[in-house]
Amino acid sequence: MNNGLHKAPPNSRLPRGGTPWILFRSVASIALLAYLTGTPATASEPSHGTSNASQVPAWVFPLNPPASASSPPFDKITALHVPNSNVSFTEAELNDLFKAPDWHPQSHSKLPSIVANGRPPDVYACGFCHTAGGQGRPENASLAGLPVAYIVSQLADFRSGKRKSAWNGPYRPADRMIHAAANATDEELLAAATYFSAQSLRPRVTVVEVDQVPVSHVVGWVYVAQPGGGNEPLGQRLLEFAPDPVSHENRDDKIRYIAYVPVASIERGKHIAQKGWDSLANACSVCHGPQLHGMGNIPPIAGRSPTYILRQLLAFQTGARSGATGLPMHAVVKDLKIAVMVDAAAYTGSLQP
Ligand code: HEC
Ligand code: HEC
Repeated sequence: MNNGLHKAPPNSRLPRGGTPWILFRSVASIALLAYLTGTPATASEPSHGTSNASQVPAWVFPLNPPASASSPPFDKITALHVPNSNVSFTEAELNDLFKAPDWHPQSHSKLPSIVANGRPPDVYACGFCHTAGGQGRPENASLAGLPVAYIVSQLADFRSGKRKSAWNGPYRPADRMIHAAANATDEELLAAATYFSAQSLRPRVTVVEVDQVPVSHVVGWVYVAQPGGGNEPLGQRLLEFAPDPVSHENRDDKIRYIAYVPVASIERGKHIAQKGWDSLANACSVCHGPQLHGMGNIPPIAGRSPTYILRQLLAFQTGARSGATGLPMHAVVKDLKIAVMVDAAAYTGSLQP
């Protein structure tokens, strides 16, 4: 089976070797210019090899470096561990799309088989990407605690093509999400939705305001500091890093990510959430609740991956997310500049889930 997700550099080959996926310094100044002039930020990224006609900056979607044809097969023997878990998995198991690595079985209720193992050949295990307990990773989404009806409606949108990724080139995590949803039965999806909704999201990210960020490359769809690479200006970007790339690659659902955001963005985001960016009608708290923990079937946005939040604001704005229940969001984001979205995402990420 070649599930494609195999292509991320495995543990033993982490920061060494391979092609470092260095960030593009020019993007910061493009975004800053856009903020000042009020035009949507457009960043073309040559190395992605795809034209991105929308206003989605390339830094919002860190892409894995292309796989080398000479990569050795995954190790099926060595037992790998993560801190505070007495379970072990091999590298081959950790890269099996039909197995959710369950490092902390006591941290969630019993997994439905669709979450634990999916259904070969087309329905990948939901827990492989979203983690067994639905804590999610920056390149996908946390599902723990989302309302059942909301999850079901999103799955319907993925199936009907009304929900796509904001990145209009190939993006394997989302492409495979859509493939899984399209091939699952209603019963399987309801079982997954009921399960994930009953779990609790733990704090998963630390949001840090900075001027400078480490020069980075991409491991497993997130940024990782380039050893000895020094710093570069953050500009008006939001970059989510895995401080422990080995545990990230091992899909440990207890690690915390660090989101670097511009100085003062959390306070600006708070104002946007409580007062709206131009009128009270689009204050996030009006619909998502005072603490942004959700209201009725409107999903919580507090304490979730800020990269995920930013991607969704862009998806509503570009129309990649066009399901009927999302219409209120289209009005909210219609004229939103990328820098304002970054502020909102910085604030939501800084809150307790
Ligand atoms: C290959 C990885 C992968 C697998 C397997 C996968 N997903 Fe996803 N899922 C994603 C990604 C990536 C996103 C974010 C897509 C986007 O940006 O819109 C996502 C988003 C979602 C969302 C939207 C969450 C929200 O807050 O709106 C739901 C619900 C969801 N997935 C449920 C499932 C279920 C149920 C399964 C199992 C049948 C599953 N996923 C399997 C990668 C995956
Ligand atoms: C008028 C009501 C309303 C306001 C105001 C509003 N939202 Fe929403 N939001 C919604 C609804 C409804 C959804 C669910 C969309 C769907 O079903 O696809 C949503 C979904 C979202 C999502 C997607 C969450 C997910 O799990 O994928 C994000 C992110 C979001 N809103 C952020 C914000 C931010 C940030 C603000 C303030 C700037 C805001 N919203 C203001 C109604 C609102």
